[in-house]
Amino acid sequence: MTRTALLKLLWERADDYVSGEELAGKLHLSRTAVWKGIEQLREEGYLIDSVTRRGHRLSSLSDVLSEERIREYLNTEGLRLQVRRTVTSTNTVLKTLAEQGEAEGLCLLAEEQTAGRGRRGRNFWSPKGGGLYLSLLLRPKLQAADTTAVTTCAAVAVAQAIESLAPVRAEIKWVNDIFVEGKKVCGILTEASLDCESGGVHYVIVGIGINTRLPEQGCPEELRNIAGSAFGKTLIPELRCRLTAAVLDRFMESYHDLNRRSWFDEYRERSLILGKPVLILQADRTPEQAEAVGLGEDFSLLVRMQSGEIRSLNTGEVSIQPGEFS
Ligand code: BTN
Repeated sequence: MTRTALLKLLWERADDYVSGEELAGKLHLSRTAVWKGIEQLREEGYLIDSVTRRGHRLSSLSDVLSEERIREYLNTEGLRLQVRRTVTSTNTVLKTLAEQGEAEGLCLLAEEQTAGRGRRGRNFWSPKGGGLYLSLLLRPKLQAADTTAVTTCAAVAVAQAIESLAPVRAEIKWVNDIFVEGKKVCGILTEASLDCESGGVHYVIVGIGINTRLPEQGCPEELRNIAGSAFGKTLIPELRCRLTAAVLDRFMESYHDLNRRSWFDEYRERSLILGKPVLILQADRTPEQAEAVGLGEDFSLLVRMQSGEIRSLNTGEVSIQPGEFS
């Protein structure tokens, strides 16, 4: 575990130079071995500046996902963390593990997804280092129809977590998109395996994708008017490790008492669409004007149609801007 020990020493003195000699002495290694360790960390993405006669300096702005660094910030006990470099989709990989009997509480994270998935069969753009892509395996005692509780609980946790790290306002667009400054910065994909006999679930996977930084070249053309990044250009040390811990801590606190729906009022207060005119996409995909007037106890969206009729939507597409459905 030389790598881990070396990283720990560098973090303890982040933004300061530590000489190769000191590192070698503390770790009982040769200076060549220290050098190799530094190279390995650099390859993993850590920002380390090495200067002759001064030593090595790890920048606290390094933003590499790692279990040990997430644990520095995480308060919740009992979660298992797995960080991978590249996966197809954290939801897909976790689903396989769930089918193999993995217990509740595994959180799978990746630096990059090659086939990230969004709702309604859409792709979720997941560039390397540009976001936080995580999936959490849960085995709640819950009726299948109540899985919206898990999704909305996660949405509030994400909004709170973003605000705990940056001076921004995070709003929720029903059901589970998070917006900052008018742009979507997070999507949540909740998938469940249903137990048809009991009406309950075998497991639920909550997949959360947060754009933390947009790459220099921006985002793909089709997302340009929709997607934003939660933190813009604000520099935050170990951003994604802190964000992971903040999301998990907040989510788990409410999840332990899921039936209380303790986040309901906050979910409503954060709503981006309540009281506003919206377009509803009908089953035949024709849009219809309505006004979002309230939230049902089960987080259904109450809309007043132009005829005056009040409809309760459990799922479906609602748009706040003409031409934008998500
Ligand atoms: C959406 O906006 O439609 C939902 C996007 C959900 C994306 C996350 S990223 C982590 C997890 N893995 C996936 O493939 N999707 C979810």
